[in-house]
Amino acid sequence: MRRVGVYGASGCGRGVLPLVRAQLTDRDPECDISFVDDNPIIPHANGHQILTYDDWLIQRASSRYISIAIANSALRERIARRCMTDGVRFFEVRAANVIQLDDVEIGEGAILCPFVTLTSNIRIGKHFHANLYSYVEHDCVIGNFVTFAPGVKCNGNVVIEDHAYIGSGAIIKQGKPGQPLVIGRGAIVGMGAVVTKSVPPGVTVVGNPSKPMAT
Ligand SMILES: CC(C)(COP(=O)(O)OP(=O)(O)OC[C@H]1O[C@@H](n2cnc3c(N)ncnc32)[C@H](O)[C@@H]1OP(=O)(O)O)[C@@H](O)C(=O)NCCC(=O)NCCS
Repeated sequence: MRRVGVYGASGCGRGVLPLVRAQLTDRDPECDISFVDDNPIIPHANGHQILTYDDWLIQRASSRYISIAIANSALRERIARRCMTDGVRFFEVRAANVIQLDDVEIGEGAILCPFVTLTSNIRIGKHFHANLYSYVEHDCVIGNFVTFAPGVKCNGNVVIEDHAYIGSGAIIKQGKPGQPLVIGRGAIVGMGAVVTKSVPPGVTVVGNPSKPMAT
């Protein structure tokens, strides 16, 4: 039997598992879908078992796939490394109404929630999360373990480096061909921010126009 896990039984995971169910039940009605969680507080959620990773791993399986539904990108990367060591494979979760136009490449393990739109000529790294109603416009390059909260508007010619987090409703101004607007590695864009200039690595920006948050 194919075992499929959604890593994380908190809000993010409980939003992702129904997408996995819808995606897989037609293709493989026999597959087992569970939550995997390091600290399960209850044994079930929404009709699915919640197992620790170790318990999930010892269940008999012909193959094992996981989607890491955890917004914290550092934790997501740690879990991805552990899964790779254990021979667990990743799969893409994609809501049925996601729109994807021409020449879009996405690395393994992405989660594309309902109403996400990816237009054309886009490169996206591994374990990308695009939450509800987010879009990525033309000619963007997005790194590994990048997270979009709901409603992110990422306009054209933008580069987003690894581990950046873009908060709910943020708007990122378009760059120019050959002169992209860059959101640096590990930067955080606060919810509702209007980003008009590049953001250095590791910096948190908020507001309209966005500025580094006072520390
Ligand atoms: C920017 C952010 C990361 C800062 O988090 P934080 O370090 O915990 O900041 P705090 O909540 O302690 O707020 C610090 C100050 O910044 C302000 N602030 C926080 N977020 C802000 C934002 N997005 N825009 C403007 N001001 C903001 C707070 O009002 C507070 O101001 P004060 O000191 O005058 O009271 C966070 O507020 C944010 O926007 N996260 C994204 C949330 C999101 O999109 N969630 C989606 C879940 S699916």
